[in-house]
Amino acid sequence: MTNLAPTPTPAPVIWLTGLSGAGKTTIADALTTHLRAKGILVEWLDGDEIRTHLSKGLGFSRDDRNTNVLRIGYVASLLARNGVTVVVSAISPYRESRDAARKMVAHFLEVHVSAPLTVCAERDVKGLYKRAFAGEIEGFTGVSDPYESPLNAELVIETAAVTVTTAIHCIEQTLRDHFSTHEASAASTATKGAQ
Ligand code: ADX
Repeated sequence: MTNLAPTPTPAPVIWLTGLSGAGKTTIADALTTHLRAKGILVEWLDGDEIRTHLSKGLGFSRDDRNTNVLRIGYVASLLARNGVTVVVSAISPYRESRDAARKMVAHFLEVHVSAPLTVCAERDVKGLYKRAFAGEIEGFTGVSDPYESPLNAELVIETAAVTVTTAIHCIEQTLRDHFSTHEASAASTATKGAQ
């Protein structure tokens, strides 16, 4: 039994949501590298990649997107409860499934990676906006399918206005704020319990 690891402390899930081309993957990539360099156990779950295996065969209907998001949330919850910090990058356009994912984990930080549709379409990293505007892709988020912006995100990053370095700095600050609030409320509960 001596070689078994002790019970870990639950780690955060940093959930990047936003339009295609808003900058989720760029930020997730840099953030994962940054956290790893600091010696933090971290795993990155990217929508595009998840759709090549765990969610292979799912399309882009509301139901399929919600299923995709719930699967990502489930895997994230398993990792996070075992002490692995999780970075998620997925459009995750619907509040209902983002909120469901939030409920699965102890520390959920919703980060809205935001850029105007015109900016995302101008960047058009994958050439999909051109095709969506030409009517070649049905139900493309932001063009012919909805994106429900978070109402209470822990953080909003306007990628047209800030650098990736600043974005990472803001996420780290939000993490610190979250954990200090959480510790303060745990301490106050403990004090009340002792009275
Ligand atoms: S989600 O809506 O289920 O969260 P996810 O992030 O996994 O989406 O995948 C989005 C990626 O799929 C986009 O970055 C884009 O490359 C591709 N894609 C293909 N068709 C669509 C579509 N109709 N709407 C949005 N993205 C699409």
